[in-house]
Amino acid sequence: PSAHVPRLDHTIFAHRGLSTLNPENTMEAFRDARDHGARWIETDVDLIADGTPILIHDTQLERTTDHTGSIYALTAEDLPSIDAGKWFGRQFGGSHIQTLADLVDFLNETGINANIEIKQNEQGAARTIQLIDAVAAELARLDPSIQIIVSSFSQPLLMHFHQRQPQYAIAVLYETCALYDDWLSVAEFCGATYIHVEDRGLTREKVHAFTAAGYGVNVYTVNSHARANQLFNWGASGVFTDVADLYPCA
Ligand code: G3P
Ligand code: MG
Repeated sequence: PSAHVPRLDHTIFAHRGLSTLNPENTMEAFRDARDHGARWIETDVDLIADGTPILIHDTQLERTTDHTGSIYALTAEDLPSIDAGKWFGRQFGGSHIQTLADLVDFLNETGINANIEIKQNEQGAARTIQLIDAVAAELARLDPSIQIIVSSFSQPLLMHFHQRQPQYAIAVLYETCALYDDWLSVAEFCGATYIHVEDRGLTREKVHAFTAAGYGVNVYTVNSHARANQLFNWGASGVFTDVADLYPCA
């Protein structure tokens, strides 16, 4: 099957959930995004030792939990004992690292759509395939009405994901500074329909180059109305934001 490509228009993605008011990538952040009217959530996915896909940005636990060390040493049994909220605020104590399975349940309950950003799992090619297949097994449980975009900074990962799961829309992630002249052949290689690009240094000309070639452009991270409107005027289809101000029901 060819990819189901979401039609985006002035789309607001809740970056790691509503992450300025809640600890990022927790159920509290996703629920609060929903409560503020967000229709799309962005989250980060990586694979722990027992093959469970979890939602976490970093490969180390220090920044967003009360534990230390590599996430790759964890199993699902460890997750309930790790606090992923207290670092953000005492009232968030008791928040946990979520699994992708938890998010799929949330999406099915709420009808919210998601951008699943798969991290560049740093554990070799076989592990990357395992990560792809674990993500796909969870996404297969989604109600077909829920829209999904799969993105990654890892181009080989995206190429493999697209080959194995061609029904999902793919977005190539770029830091602006890493935007080389070969972006079009990379996008074709990955089977992408979207470019997800960093806001820093982004120009009207770059946005036009993407849209002229038929790609949707979603920009991270945009925390002001003025910049979001400018990007939409340039033809961007969506922005990722940390702040509630940009949400439909701010
Ligand atoms: O998916 C957009 C954005 O989240 C990519 O960068 O580092 O915030 O995951 P990062
Ligand atoms: Mg991300």
